[in-house]
Amino acid sequence: MGTTLMTGASRGLGRHAAEHLLRHHPDRHLLVFNRRPGLAAELADRTGNRNVSEVVCDLGSFADIRRAASEVDGPLDGFLGNAGLQMATTRKLTADGHEMTFGVNVLAYHLLLNLLMPRFANPARIVVVGSDVHDSAHNSMGLVPPPRWDDPRELVKPGEDTGKAGRRAYATSKLGVVYLVHALRRRLPEGVDVYSYNPGLVPGTGLTRDAGRIGQAVFGVIGKALVALPVATSPEKAGRLLAETMTGPRPGESGSYISRGEVIPSSSESYDERREEELWAVADELCGISRTSHRSA
Ligand SMILES: NC(=O)c1ccc[n+]([C@@H]2O[C@H](COP(=O)([O-])OP(=O)(O)OC[C@H]3O[C@@H](n4cnc5c(N)ncnc54)[C@H](OP(=O)(O)O)[C@@H]3O)[C@@H](O)[C@H]2O)c1
Repeated sequence: MGTTLMTGASRGLGRHAAEHLLRHHPDRHLLVFNRRPGLAAELADRTGNRNVSEVVCDLGSFADIRRAASEVDGPLDGFLGNAGLQMATTRKLTADGHEMTFGVNVLAYHLLLNLLMPRFANPARIVVVGSDVHDSAHNSMGLVPPPRWDDPRELVKPGEDTGKAGRRAYATSKLGVVYLVHALRRRLPEGVDVYSYNPGLVPGTGLTRDAGRIGQAVFGVIGKALVALPVATSPEKAGRLLAETMTGPRPGESGSYISRGEVIPSSSESYDERREEELWAVADELCGISRTSHRSA
């Protein structure tokens, strides 16, 4: 029986993905990493499948990630990194003093996946959720400004106290997810595949909740208007497509970008080995990963 470790199963499209996995793949164990204790029992009650367990983990803290990863006794044949956030500004910091968006959306996955590397079975599949806003050519209808990549040491510093800066940091962090996946692909053994995944625009999740009541209301109105258009996907459908990416046939070459279930090229800016390797090295430094030790992380 295989085990899939999933982050971000508590709400939004990830909640639907987790319930889909439990309803349609009762033979696979689902291990959820979540901030609030009690999620595994909630998922079991809701789906009638008790083949689910949890480890409490706040991805905004390296110490918590290290403790949580040490509680995983593998083997894992699936990893679904769905947790992610968008902040109202770039002023909030992780427990380690890094800008929250980059800290959770990029650094947390760098650390967690490095810690879990010895736990992966072969074959195994790793999917990290990105977004089409990583692409500066993507039309987000003015909701999210294009990414602005920089030396990752700069990207982890707090920035402007504006909504635009917060949303731009989100787009930039999702470019970082694609870079991370490319760098990881070069290091994983054949048989252990890694993908970035774009769910498309999914109105009705909690993604914009840091924008406060007014911001949420604005996004809520826009979301309701967009949900009827083909550019938007409902949280239910987005969750099902994400779950199927974990359980369906091999989606494509390791390192690929999967958009709403289909492999397509990511942005031209996202294929940049120099940036990918710089991100890997700086993320190692920031996360305190020592490559000289026996177990690399
Ligand atoms: N909605 C969209 O239009 C859209 C578009 C493209 C990509 N995405 C991506 O899809 C993924 C899911 O987003 P969503 O829209 O479903 O948003 P959501 O409803 O806000 O769900 C986000 C999930 O991430 C978890 N999370 C956030 N910060 C965390 C932390 N510090 N530690 C542990 N878990 C944390 C949340 O857990 P809590 O319940 O504890 O907060 C929740 O389970 C994200 O990666 C997002 O960037 C969304």
